[in-house]
Amino acid sequence: MSSQIDHLLNESRQFPPSPEFVAQSIDDPALYERAAADREGFWADQARELLHWHKPFTEVLDWTNPPFAKWFGDGELNVAYNCLDRHVEAGIGDRVAIHWEGEPGDSRSITYAELTDEVRRTANVLADLGVGEGDRVAIYLPMIPEAVISMLAVARLGAIHSVVFGGFSADSLRSRIDDAGAKVVITADGGYRKGKVSALKPAVDQSLADRNGEGEQQTVEHVLVVKRGGNDVEWTEGRDIWWHDVVPAASAEHEAQAFGAENPLFILYTSGTTGKPKGILHTSGGYLTQAAYTHKYVFDLHPETDVYWCTADIGWITGHSYVTYGPLANGATQLMYEGTPDAPHPGRWWELIQKYGVTILYTAPTAIRSFMKLGRQIPNEFDLSTLRLLGSVGEPINPEAWMWYREVIGGGETPIVDTWWQTETGGIMVSPLPGITAAKPGSAQVPLPGISIDVVDEQGNAVENGAGGLLAITKPWPAMLRGVWGDPERFKETYWEKFEEQGFYFAGDGARLDEDGDLWLLGRVDDVMNVSGHRLSTAEIESSLVAHEATAEAAVVGASDETTGQAVVAFVILKESFLAEHTPEGLATQLRTWVGEQIGPIARPRDVYIVGELPKTRSGKIMRRLLRDVAEGREVGDTTTLADTAVMSIISAQVK
Ligand code: WTA
Repeated sequence: MSSQIDHLLNESRQFPPSPEFVAQSIDDPALYERAAADREGFWADQARELLHWHKPFTEVLDWTNPPFAKWFGDGELNVAYNCLDRHVEAGIGDRVAIHWEGEPGDSRSITYAELTDEVRRTANVLADLGVGEGDRVAIYLPMIPEAVISMLAVARLGAIHSVVFGGFSADSLRSRIDDAGAKVVITADGGYRKGKVSALKPAVDQSLADRNGEGEQQTVEHVLVVKRGGNDVEWTEGRDIWWHDVVPAASAEHEAQAFGAENPLFILYTSGTTGKPKGILHTSGGYLTQAAYTHKYVFDLHPETDVYWCTADIGWITGHSYVTYGPLANGATQLMYEGTPDAPHPGRWWELIQKYGVTILYTAPTAIRSFMKLGRQIPNEFDLSTLRLLGSVGEPINPEAWMWYREVIGGGETPIVDTWWQTETGGIMVSPLPGITAAKPGSAQVPLPGISIDVVDEQGNAVENGAGGLLAITKPWPAMLRGVWGDPERFKETYWEKFEEQGFYFAGDGARLDEDGDLWLLGRVDDVMNVSGHRLSTAEIESSLVAHEATAEAAVVGASDETTGQAVVAFVILKESFLAEHTPEGLATQLRTWVGEQIGPIARPRDVYIVGELPKTRSGKIMRRLLRDVAEGREVGDTTTLADTAVMSIISAQVK
């Protein structure tokens, strides 16, 4: 981390928006003034301006029982109505909501009127299957329009969705289905990735099979299956239903009921420092307010003319807030793409931007870095001149990548918004406003109007400009998580205990303020890795490694990686009996595959080192810091607190 700080200190370039950009921008410095003068009043204004309330709220924030907040608590709304019907009623039903492009090149453009009908039909089908207020529905789909339709149909009924990323394995899906007690699973036969159909239904079948273990009662009554890949699937009569058999035949009449502002909207599982994934719970009114507000002002949205593209999968929070809820609440036109950036050719993204005239692109540093590696000649072959704004999310963007993004993709002119936030925050918290802020490559810069953030020391005192510390959110915000599903204690412990006295939320990120007071994010301070912008817990991967019959003990660290930000590196002690019969290389390969199958390809270790011992403190804690030094090829740091100080030289020698 220290080398990164040194590097950042040298960065002094600034890029104010051009006069033309400022002239057309909706961003107004008065936003900062209004929010500073009356924070809660400001949020109430946003909620009223941006959303339709079936029953208007009279209370803004109820913080009498911290850390359990209520926003707009006595108001009622329907989230799906806000994203659909009201736009049709306002006369923009003919506007395209989603231009969808499949990986093989098939495409569909869906207007707001059509999307509204599809969601109503799907809501009727789900209601027939017994889904109602408060029920959980798991969604395990590729990036096809049915993913967004499913989310909105669940929301329309006041039920709760839990979207599970399609790249996760059957085991990961199973633990998420069980934790949430899902009643229905929505999936597809498969989806296109890298030119091939990658199957999904078999993972659902597997996740629902053999339930004899503890806490494994079968809650799933039905599986609704979209036909996408043309794969043959196994069929469980009575449980499985084809989407195309029921949705087109269902009625497009469905009146959206009003639900309380604090009615749960979704659970999204994210990695924590223990092996068990955390179900982050979000509710309706506050979440949708902040999703719409941030989408509007951070992306300087002109819904009549912009073509917006967020490349995130709906399995991540970015796909929730900035593919489904924010853009649709704002009546935006967006592009949705099914496949990988390099299929069928490495210029696929740039071809899509040219084809649809994309004006706003929101993506992750890991993608930008992999394009940098391929070289600028690929994007240079396409007309990217429609782009007027670029965004970044998921991890710190290094200044080199920032400059490349602006020069090569943005034609040297577009503002870039580097947006810091988390699954837990629900919406963007720190970001430049592109029509106002002079951007600094590598810095997320300033909290948005209405958001209160400080960099603090271990005691919770704000640090001076020029100093580093921990990022804390000092006031409740509308889209904040309302809890961890089924585990209020874990919610308090993880996020609120560290700064209990001050009542601050602890984000788990290190940060520093520069001399201007701008924020620089420095990565996670806990044992959570950030691989390609996705949080993975070391503990979860360690559990998976230890579950393999050959493994006696395992420690996992995130080592910096040029393309993925961090890469998973595992140190494994094998059982004697296996060492006798297998080569270390063979076992290392087996273990990599094993983790890929158990958790998903994203968690597959880049390196597996077979070692004889692990560095531990006297209390038995693995010192991952030292393993990180080894993984990154550095000289090993201070080993004085190790129980056995010789162990690191042995490990270093074994790794070499
Ligand atoms: C990191 C993704 C630096 C951070 C929306 C955070 C960032 C974690 C940025 C949340 C950024 C996200 N600059 N770091 N602009 N955006 N992060 O829950 O460590 O998948 O805590 O949410 O990603 O990851 P999550």
